Amino acid sequence: MSANGQSPPDQERRLAWFRAARFGMFIHWGLYSQFGRHEWVMNRERIPVAEYEKLAQTWKPRLNAARTWARLARQAGMRYMVMTTKHHEGFCLFDTRHTDYNAVKCGPGRDLVAEYVEAARAEGLRVGFYYSLMDWHHPDGARCKVDEAARRRFVDFTHGVVRELCTNYGRIDILWFDVNWPLTPEEWEAPQLIAMVRELQPDIIINNRTGLPEDFGTPEQHIIPEKGGRMWEACMTFNESWGYTPIDTRWKDAWTVVAMLRQVAAGGGNLLLNIGPTPQGDVPEPCGKVLLEVGEWLQRYGPTVYEATDPMPQEWMITGAFTRRGDTLYFHCNRWPGNELAIGGLRNRVLEARLFGGPAVEFAQTGDRLVLRGLPQAAPDPLATVIELRVEGEPQQVLGAGCVLLDEL
Ligand code: GLC
Repeated sequence: MSANGQSPPDQERRLAWFRAARFGMFIHWGLYSQFGRHEWVMNRERIPVAEYEKLAQTWKPRLNAARTWARLARQAGMRYMVMTTKHHEGFCLFDTRHTDYNAVKCGPGRDLVAEYVEAARAEGLRVGFYYSLMDWHHPDGARCKVDEAARRRFVDFTHGVVRELCTNYGRIDILWFDVNWPLTPEEWEAPQLIAMVRELQPDIIINNRTGLPEDFGTPEQHIIPEKGGRMWEACMTFNESWGYTPIDTRWKDAWTVVAMLRQVAAGGGNLLLNIGPTPQGDVPEPCGKVLLEVGEWLQRYGPTVYEATDPMPQEWMITGAFTRRGDTLYFHCNRWPGNELAIGGLRNRVLEARLFGGPAVEFAQTGDRLVLRGLPQAAPDPLATVIELRVEGEPQQVLGAGCVLLDEL
């Protein structure tokens, strides 16, 4: 049994869909979207609460904007979504009896979380709620650290709001907590919070950002697998901001997203890729375009990502990298060298080579040098062309720094 009273088999049962999902959409949407200068704008520019609060009245997002996101997510090959129900700014995108600083009582005039949940379900996607424990608006949000009465009120507020989120929207698949500043997990009464969530939502999976490990790790802005088979999900921005920030224009391209998908698959994790919609709810144009390109690529190469998560020691190559399913290796070649592709260090006899979903490829193996010949001169798929290899024995690629050619396989 782990600290939360969940036995490992139960955790694996709850995680099964998530382990297979691979790709999800993160949505950062809130009052800050109106400024368009990052979701930390209130803190970074020291905007007084009274001034920031005015944004709650001026926010008029268009009806059912979430339907566009959900359709796009499905077309992109994503299988779940996680939306900010309350970010650090403290504005609740849902109806709550614990504060009037919420979407129903302010500018939007309706429950944006309800719209989101309905939209995700309509596209057959799993539903996740992001919730920031840290709160820059709540009067006890900082004071709770030094004043016991304030801590009591703030913890009751937090548990109360999370209870509403877990009660009012049917089945929720993921609870994605964020920033637990300024309290420790004990001061948050995080074990009780989590026990309550699990009682209300027995199948839910919970991330590690209350400060308790729970079901999965959340590497941010880098793709580094968790150790020991523990589930993880890398969250990444499309540019360098989570919230809508039109001045931040360094967008990732489809090539980069496809490479990230290959990397998370090779490490047995997921990719939660963020979009920051405009205040009206429109998806920034570069995100929409790139996600559709990625979706098309996944249509063709999906099995080399969704179902290819077996571990394999491998070395860096400038031409690409592997994912693996059993004795089948998928070399994702994203810098195409022309008619011939050589891969060094593979310690396994290759039985068969082909372009994924296409014709067989001629190959020769000399020691640990594999050469594939007769390939098209131009990259069949510039995002990544996958070459499928069926091999003998436990797959591994070992190169080291020297120039030794292994004669015997
Ligand atoms: C960080 C940031 C936050 C963002 C989150 C996503 O914690 O504070 O703005 O929502 O990462 O992982």
